[in-house]
Amino acid sequence: MHDVDSPWQHGVVLICNNQRPDGSPKPSCGRDAGNQLKAWLKIAAREGGGAAAECRVLTTSCLDVCPQHGVAVALMPGNEVVVVDPQEDRDALLARVQAHMDAVAEQGAPTGPGRRGRGLLRRLRGAD
Ligand code: FES
Repeated sequence: MHDVDSPWQHGVVLICNNQRPDGSPKPSCGRDAGNQLKAWLKIAAREGGGAAAECRVLTTSCLDVCPQHGVAVALMPGNEVVVVDPQEDRDALLARVQAHMDAVAEQGAPTGPGRRGRGLLRRLRGAD
């Protein structure tokens, strides 16, 4: 294992696109809903400018929220999770992401490239 500098700043948005098989007892956010929301948010965040324009928007597997309706979205750092209607809540989600990433950028941490990863590695190696 080795460190690399992360190519993005200000945080990561994780959008669940988990799709369980038909008949599963647990609901899922849905592959299409998650993928479409991610594609929209990525463009909207970049066009909106500010710190959110430099965050990373990714799809992910289950975030262990599994709403009956909607898509689970995590904002990192900060471990904030929201459930959104993938169509109706788009503007509200964009505003939330912009406010979150602006706050992360203003607080100044942990925005350094690979900073948390390096700190963790130091602790794992017993250097701290
Ligand atoms: S299926 Fe999306 S959070 Fe579990």
